[in-house]
Amino acid sequence: MKLYKTSIQILLATAVVAAVSVLAVSAQDITLQNKGGFKVVLTPTGATVQKLLVPSSKGRRRLVNVALGYDNVTGYAMDPHPNFGATVGRVANRIANASFSLDGKNYTLLANDGSSSLHGGAVPWAKAAWRGSASRDELSATFEYTSVDGEAGFPGTVTAKVVYSIPAKGSALAINMSATSDKATPLNIINHAYFNLKGAGNGDILDHVVQLSARYYTPAADEALIPSGVVAPVAGSPYDFTRPKAIRRDLMRANGGAIRGYDTNFVLPPPPGASGKAPEWWAPGTNPQVAHDAPSRPLAWSATVTEPRSGLRLRMLTNAPGMQLYSGNNLDGKQPVPGVVDGKAGGREVYYQRYDGLCLEAQAFPNAINTPAFPSSVLRPGQAFSNRVTYEFGCA
Ligand SMILES: *[C@@H]1O[C@H](CO)[C@@H](O)[C@H](O)[C@H]1NC(C)=O
Ligand SMILES: *[C@@H]1O[C@H](CO)[C@@H](O)[C@H](O)[C@H]1NC(C)=O
Ligand SMILES: *[C@@H]1O[C@H](CO)[C@@H](O)[C@H](O)[C@H]1NC(C)=O
Ligand SMILES: *[C@@H]1O[C@H](CO)[C@@H](O)[C@H](O)[C@H]1NC(C)=O
Repeated sequence: MKLYKTSIQILLATAVVAAVSVLAVSAQDITLQNKGGFKVVLTPTGATVQKLLVPSSKGRRRLVNVALGYDNVTGYAMDPHPNFGATVGRVANRIANASFSLDGKNYTLLANDGSSSLHGGAVPWAKAAWRGSASRDELSATFEYTSVDGEAGFPGTVTAKVVYSIPAKGSALAINMSATSDKATPLNIINHAYFNLKGAGNGDILDHVVQLSARYYTPAADEALIPSGVVAPVAGSPYDFTRPKAIRRDLMRANGGAIRGYDTNFVLPPPPGASGKAPEWWAPGTNPQVAHDAPSRPLAWSATVTEPRSGLRLRMLTNAPGMQLYSGNNLDGKQPVPGVVDGKAGGREVYYQRYDGLCLEAQAFPNAINTPAFPSSVLRPGQAFSNRVTYEFGCA
């Protein structure tokens, strides 16, 4: 933050800066904030959302940090950390058997989740040093990363960009993830924010009430959490969130892998303007995330989460075909909450515990590269990948 301020002062002093759009490059944290008091702290390691400070109108006006994370680089350097707020790639989620075949060639990745490859395998983008820059008005920041041909076993050099932006007023974070590649490659760039509307470190998310747009999901065959390839209706299953429902209600009936809970891909309805009809508005084998209009078309509502005690509400909109609902099943009491290093601080919980955060990850389908019935996750030269998601905050 200090470096960033300093570089801005120098730029101003030399009168090079004329327009609001001029960027200041920073290796430090970048803070976005607006007149409404909404504040986002971003860190270049993993192009990570470190804090999301939302003004709450309940009682006295105060800021609630609704995103799980650490105070600084010390936490993010821990190996592994649960991808708190990070930009995950090259392929987020799971690739079965840590291998795939593309255009007649076989590729082998690191198996880091049983026999599967998870969240980028050997070179997780969540740990990479992204190049960050902020706009002078403190309303947007851009992070860039170049993933070289062969990185983590994937083909092609991928040039990736993530733009975070907030409105001049109001509490909303728009994330625009884009990329191009010089060879065909599977690609699934996501943001892995964990939310807790009571505030990060203030207990679990089990009483959060969730409503989803999805009427279909992709059930996993077993505890490895690889989808079987079927698109199934949520009706009558623990995955039915078509009406608002507390996370805890069906939690123990959901397949969270080794630990019960949600870790499941939902099939999102078509965004406004997209051709085709739910549930399979994408033709199997085509990639809606490289569609010509994906970078610009209006986003579709996919989720609303409310928390009765804080009175805060989160709405999610996206152009992605899938969304992973994850209830923080694997948080294991080893990650200190913000403001704490050794886990000792008064009477309150100071380490993140199981179910302390909730993820709503806009994404391509898990293991899409090995599942012909799913929308494709392949980006080819000349195409542009687009995953856009907006998280809006308000009072319920
Ligand atoms: C993993 O590989 C084995 C052996 O080739 C195969 O039988 C199995 O179907 C594969 N699993 C998945 C989920 O693709
Ligand atoms: C790729 O893997 C498949 C399945 O293991 C195998 O049948 C095929 O021969 C391999 N192709 C090449 C080009 O190595
Ligand atoms: C998202 O980023 C892409 C690539 O930079 C750009 O073409 C597109 O206009 C952006 N979309 C929005 C809505 O900002
Ligand atoms: C990181 O944050 C912790 C907790 O606030 C603090 O004690 C520690 O000194 C910080 N470390 C660095 C390198 O800033």
